[in-house]
Amino acid sequence: MFHIILFGPPGSGKGTQSEKLIATYGLKHLSTGDLLRSEINNKTALGMEAKSVMDKGQLVPDEVVIGMISSALDANPDAKGFLFDGFPRTKAQAEALDKLLKLKNGEIGVFLALQVSEEELVKRLLNRGLTSGRSDDTDESVIRKRYAEYIAKTSPVADHYAQSDKVVNIKGEGTVDDIFAALQKEIDARMK
Ligand code: AP5
Repeated sequence: MFHIILFGPPGSGKGTQSEKLIATYGLKHLSTGDLLRSEINNKTALGMEAKSVMDKGQLVPDEVVIGMISSALDANPDAKGFLFDGFPRTKAQAEALDKLLKLKNGEIGVFLALQVSEEELVKRLLNRGLTSGRSDDTDESVIRKRYAEYIAKTSPVADHYAQSDKVVNIKGEGTVDDIFAALQKEIDARMK
């Protein structure tokens, strides 16, 4: 089994590239943002609690997202591999993921980090907010808070994987197809 972490700040293209990656490699896509939005749409207690945190641009508590990922791994025993999008976002989440994968005799194959400037991210997300209905995309101050959370709490997650030589930085500005080709090159080199 080959597992991938697609990493990067809000708006860096994780969701866009994930769609292409799962279609190409047949991996199971696990996006904690999508799982949380599904809880919100279903008006569950977890969803209602998460919504107030997400609308402020803050991170949902570790135990909540780790629990969701643990359940999703158990619910997909036949997956060829997993593509993690938006998870792990803290060191505690990265350590929990290592343990969960170890229980299944697995480990992360590659950690692909999309690099995009803050101004480009803000521009993309304000633009997406016009049509997506995502409540965390409409207010520039919330977008900048999400970015600040990324810099403070999430970017150090790369250090967790750097020791095992799994981190690859990919330029996340340019055409979607060019970025996908760069991701593919790194994955193919490691899947062999
Ligand atoms: P989440 O849903 O994970 O959102 P995010 O990380 O903020 O990322 P986005 O979905 O906004 O962007 P993306 O990188 O997927 O980019 P996309 O492809 O859509 O998280 C939302 C919230 O949930 C968090 O703030 C937090 O509260 C909570 N949460 C989630 N996971 C958590 C966790 N593990 N722990 C704690 N809390 C958690 O692209 C963005 C836009 O740009 C689109 O319009 C797209 O069309 C466009 N675009 C894409 N590529 C390009 C390109 N190459 N050129 C130009 N435009 C492009």
